[in-house]
Amino acid sequence: MSEECTHDCSTCGSDCDSRTETTAAPMHEDAFVRRVYAVCGAKGGVGRTTVAALLASCVQKKHVQAAVLDADITGSSVPAAFGLTGRVTPDSFGMFPMETQSGVQVIGVNLIIPDPTDPVIARGTLVDNTLKKFWSEVIWEDVDLLLVDMPAGTGEVPLSVMRNMSLDGVIVVTEAGKAAAMMTEKTLKMARALKIPVVALVVNRDGANADLDDRNAELAEKYRVRQTVRLPYDPRLAVFMDEGEIEMYNTDVLDPLIDRLF
Ligand SMILES: Nc1ncnc2c1ncn2[C@@H]1O[C@H](COP(=O)(O)OP(=O)(O)O)[C@@H](O)[C@H]1O
Ligand SMILES: [Mg+2]
Repeated sequence: MSEECTHDCSTCGSDCDSRTETTAAPMHEDAFVRRVYAVCGAKGGVGRTTVAALLASCVQKKHVQAAVLDADITGSSVPAAFGLTGRVTPDSFGMFPMETQSGVQVIGVNLIIPDPTDPVIARGTLVDNTLKKFWSEVIWEDVDLLLVDMPAGTGEVPLSVMRNMSLDGVIVVTEAGKAAAMMTEKTLKMARALKIPVVALVVNRDGANADLDDRNAELAEKYRVRQTVRLPYDPRLAVFMDEGEIEMYNTDVLDPLIDRLF
């Protein structure tokens, strides 16, 4: 933040950390996407990828075209959840996403690097450039709902996604417990600062932690999040994710959320 900061970003071109105005970059000219939501949550391992992959799969089963952009550059795991292997090959024109068994369109770092076990050692500009590439060079084909799977935290990637991709809103994944509530509040504050609507809280692993203090109802009220969806803890879900068969998992608990997204 500059010393002369007036907190009015509309009159300032500086790309400082306190910038609250979103400056969305254009998508590929041949891409067509109706709605874009980021699936986020600051707590590590809270279930963002599970929610993103399951939500996309449930949407696709309703004959609505879903897609997932894996924005977790160093921990790309969306392709594995759908059992996708192989690589997409970008050319000078752009790149087509890979299609899952049920037709969900997916792009992620693990579909681009030669070996998915190779570590992606990237920081700063490289991370930002990769995200921008995914946003502006992928030719999404008639997509009704694009979900952006975010990494944990409130750092560079979430900030870049929230600023550069014209999001219709964010879905915040949380769980029971004080630690989760503290991390979730960071995400809620970040979305508020960037003026991006929070469409729902997804309380994950519901029922698994009966002894933990669940502060999510309080948070929903404080940040005026109108919908809270509870995704039960189910060890089978972890197995389907791990086997790359998320599309085989059937549930209707996300249906009220799906209704809100369109
Ligand atoms: N509701 C759930 N029931 C059982 N296991 C879950 C559930 N949600 C997530 N998991 C498991 O927890 C682990 C972390 O989930 P993941 O979606 O990768 O988290 P994140 O993307 O937030 O790091 C994975 O092994 C996943 O299969
Ligand atoms: Mg993840």
